[in-house]
Amino acid sequence: MSTSVIVPAAGSGTRLGENRPKAFVDLSGATILSRTLAAVQSSDVGLDRIVVVVPEELIEQTRAELTGSRCAVDVVAGGAERSDSVRAGLARATGEFVLVHDAARPFTPAAVFERVVEALRAGHQAVVPGLPVVDTLKRVDDEEQVLETVDRSVLRAIQTPQGFHADALARAYADAGDVATDDAGLAERAGIAVHVVAGDPDAFKITTPWDLRLARAIAKGWD
Ligand code: C5P
Repeated sequence: MSTSVIVPAAGSGTRLGENRPKAFVDLSGATILSRTLAAVQSSDVGLDRIVVVVPEELIEQTRAELTGSRCAVDVVAGGAERSDSVRAGLARATGEFVLVHDAARPFTPAAVFERVVEALRAGHQAVVPGLPVVDTLKRVDDEEQVLETVDRSVLRAIQTPQGFHADALARAYADAGDVATDDAGLAERAGIAVHVVAGDPDAFKITTPWDLRLARAIAKGWD
């Protein structure tokens, strides 16, 4: 089955507090984006095309850095919201399966990509990696008063890559009226069944300054 991966990397990274878009922040000698693209290409899922979605002003720089890839690579401009960026990538994706993988998850193991694609091959229309929730979860009101403790055994923390049969993802985005925090959320709203496979703690997303410190420490041991 031919497979494309869309890598949304057009976020500003405001919560990270660095003075450049998050995917272009350095992690011990290589940008977050270049580490993510190396991880994407190390997986054994038969990728035909990678569509990298970046801020408009960084398209040329990204193209120049992306020589020597094993498959076709497109670099396109993103939009204001993550879903706008994924939609821009979707316009260039080809093949039966489309994966969407956050640039901000540079240490995602190849095995996670492989589990997602295996479940797509088994017939699931939409597949997401997820982890059990380890902390106790409480619902609170506007004044931080606890209303209840939530049953965490039925909850999963969802990561990327999220995989879709191409027509299912196209349908999810065609129906998308408003923004969602992930692509599977749009698929759910379009009535598409979403299946969870095992994620991995290494697939964590760099969001806060603490995450960046952790990522830099990991990167030092990684190379
Ligand atoms: O902001 P957040 O960490 O949830 O973003 C997840 C991924 O989506 C990041 O890799 C980020 O660069 C990307 N993104 C994007 N376009 C946006 C917002 C986020 O490509 N407008």
